[in-house]
Amino acid sequence: MNPKTRIAILISGRGSNMLALIDAIEQGSIPNAEIVLVVSDNARAQGLIFAEERELHTVVIERRGRPREEHDSEILSALINHETDLICLAGYMRLLSRGFVEAFSGRILNIHPSLLPSFPGLDAQAQALEHGAKWSGCTVHFVDDTLDGGPIIAQRIVPVLDGDSEETLSARILEQEHKLYPEAVAFIVRGEYEVIGRRVIVAAPKTD
Ligand code: GRF
Repeated sequence: MNPKTRIAILISGRGSNMLALIDAIEQGSIPNAEIVLVVSDNARAQGLIFAEERELHTVVIERRGRPREEHDSEILSALINHETDLICLAGYMRLLSRGFVEAFSGRILNIHPSLLPSFPGLDAQAQALEHGAKWSGCTVHFVDDTLDGGPIIAQRIVPVLDGDSEETLSARILEQEHKLYPEAVAFIVRGEYEVIGRRVIVAAPKTD
């Protein structure tokens, strides 16, 4: 049996996607994986309380006005100290530096509440409403040093209804996020994929 994939989750706030991943691991739907660390860049993140309730190892690394590279290198040290294999961003609100992304190249995932490449960045649900999109959804993608721009792993769609507010659309998308993220993480942990250019495709499992 392969050793378990050691996952670190980076959060900044509510932490509901983090909880979906924790639940999926506990229920066995992401086999052969464990969460070794939760990092928050915000000491007041609600997600920290949930992580502590689940008896996960947590660390707060606040930016405190420091340059991105310095902040990222402190986070990197914590991840390396915990022998992290895979990083899942879950509502982590900072763009990662190039050095960070290179250190974990192909091993950082993010979930975004739109059908990328439409509506990257902040307030994706409001952007979809303002644009008049009829469908929206969520995307799990690899992280590179562009804003929500790395190769797409998985997506789910939801309708945008005439009566929607930002809140109702966000809630409909979030429900799908909580299903999509664990599925996508399980897919990546199984290693049954190949990245060809920007395309993430199903492939035979890696043997190394
Ligand atoms: C989610 O909508 C996620 O797609 C986006 O930030 C939000 C985080 O929510 N990246 P939560 O902290 O996981 O509840």
